[in-house]
Amino acid sequence: MLYYSIHLTNISKVHRKVGMAHWCTVFIKFNKVAIQVCGIVGVVSGKNISEKLLNGLSNLEYRGYDSVGMCFLNNGQLNIKKGVGRLEEVNKRINFLKFKGNAGLGHCRWSTHGGVTEKNAHPHTDCNNRISVVHNGIIENYSELKDELAKKGHKFSSQTDTEIIAHLIEDNLKGNAEEAVSAALSRVEGSYALGILFADEPELLIGAKNESPLIVGIGNNENFIASDVPSILSYTNKIIYLEDKEMVVLTKNRHKVIGIDRKEKKKKIHAINWSAEAAKKGGYKHFMLKEIYEQPSAIADTLNERLRNGSVSFEKEFRIPGDYLKSINRIIFVACGTSWHAALTGEFMIEELARIPVEVEYASEFRYRHPILDKKTLVIAISQSGETADTIAALKEAKKYGVQTLSICNVMGSSITRISDGVIYTRAGPEIGVASTKAFTTQLAVLYLLTILLSKIRKTLNEKQVRDMINGIRKVPLQLQSVLEEDKEILKCAELYYSKLNSIYLGRGVNFPIALEGALKLKEVSYVHAEGYPAAEMKHGPIALIDKSMPVVFIAPHDVYTYKKVLGNIEEVKARGGIIIAIATEGDKEIPKKADHTIFIPKNLYTLSSMLAIVPLQLLAYHIADKLGRDIDKPRNLAKSVVVE
Ligand code: F6R
Repeated sequence: MLYYSIHLTNISKVHRKVGMAHWCTVFIKFNKVAIQVCGIVGVVSGKNISEKLLNGLSNLEYRGYDSVGMCFLNNGQLNIKKGVGRLEEVNKRINFLKFKGNAGLGHCRWSTHGGVTEKNAHPHTDCNNRISVVHNGIIENYSELKDELAKKGHKFSSQTDTEIIAHLIEDNLKGNAEEAVSAALSRVEGSYALGILFADEPELLIGAKNESPLIVGIGNNENFIASDVPSILSYTNKIIYLEDKEMVVLTKNRHKVIGIDRKEKKKKIHAINWSAEAAKKGGYKHFMLKEIYEQPSAIADTLNERLRNGSVSFEKEFRIPGDYLKSINRIIFVACGTSWHAALTGEFMIEELARIPVEVEYASEFRYRHPILDKKTLVIAISQSGETADTIAALKEAKKYGVQTLSICNVMGSSITRISDGVIYTRAGPEIGVASTKAFTTQLAVLYLLTILLSKIRKTLNEKQVRDMINGIRKVPLQLQSVLEEDKEILKCAELYYSKLNSIYLGRGVNFPIALEGALKLKEVSYVHAEGYPAAEMKHGPIALIDKSMPVVFIAPHDVYTYKKVLGNIEEVKARGGIIIAIATEGDKEIPKKADHTIFIPKNLYTLSSMLAIVPLQLLAYHIADKLGRDIDKPRNLAKSVVVE
């Protein structure tokens, strides 16, 4: 079984790139801004670095894939090679491996509005090609800086804000590179993760960070900077997490972390104990499939050592005192997308079992709603990446009211975990596929554990009920293994129905959010339109859509309250000729008589059926997308984490 004690840090960010050109300035006035996610990697080494840059970028491509570039520092010259397209295509044209250097930078870029040109691809340089910069972030005062630098005679060759940084460093360079970078950054407003090389300093690599992710890797006779850990994990597992407004000054044998104000910082070096292999596909056709199959171990890891002596205990990061949890009278979840669906499941669990009123808010809506919050409200943010802009903004909004905040997050050290008072980590390990799978089920596992903890503290359940809940979740990893064995039946459904243009997902109670999540998965990876509804809502409108070409997916595990009603809904769809795919509990005799396809999940507590039922729906979405030849790990228009509001 895999055990990840430290998790991907600062996975990814999308940043508004303002002001890439005059036309772009006009866009800003109309609130249309160009958007970028980028990945960066840098290395200074005793050996040639081209392979390390290429390998690093191939692991970072999930962050951006419309242009790539590298800079090789060799014999006092900066050799920059870049192009528009995916790494593989650009590499075919350029063949990055043929270039030599002992220090280098790599960058992959993604943008949604124009500006995808070779000139705008990174790295960028100053007037004399003596300073090279890669950047992920947004320089908010770029326009003033650009005017100021232009007046001094600086000539710009791209439309990016990044180039300003190279010129600003050039402008401040009076012999000492480190001083020039800190002087330049003291003028910069906005977010950045930067890698910087100087032609005249062949042994030096400088990195800097503010609100965009950047980590430092300490290697053997070589040192690295990167947007995330997996991109350099083949070379080192010794990682320093930079904080905002910190710089790192690297040679192949030394590292020094300082503030932008040049005050020296003492930083801990973390030993990461997941392997580089964990961050790769491990023989699966896609990361999404690998991550679906990793769910039994991801959940086992998430439970590991948290279930003890008939109770739940979280690590010290939890930091929310039991007395406070006893006193709260309301919980508000803030989240987006799949994490929002997890929150809806949490609402069901906590209200049903711990008897605390729960509200689930879209983070993007919550922050502008002037929420009514008091000291007895606990605000919980759920986020895989910990970098989603709307969720960060919602948390910040909640904190203005002085309430306690808790985050449920997969990425150690990410922004959300630093902002919130307490943290529970989902231990899903790196999730590379853009569509969230194992992050979701581990979020459900954490929410279930939190429900047990709250129920114990508030004495809403007796010892036996708590024991049953604990026994129930302990069974889940093994049960998931058997759900994965249903894959053949699921593939059959995909083969039969992949050409359908629409579908409906229906579930009730704890499985209503699963209907939403199943539909979202299908939309994201296959681009097939799908809608999720509470099953009983069908008769209030969506039933009009049902005909013989409409697949309807029912999530219908056995429960005491709604099972019979859902059977009725299945009949209604059947009567109208719809195609019925049902998720049912093992041993169910009724559903197979009515459904065209039945996929069985093992018996467990009803609350836990959600964790089992989502897996066939993830697989269904995956196989349909695969049949349609979609770009499953990097679906069009999507980014792994959305750091624009
Ligand atoms: C769906 C998906 C997105 C994210 C959402 C929030 O598969 O991945 O809907 O769930 O963008 O992201 P996090 O959880 O990183 O805050």
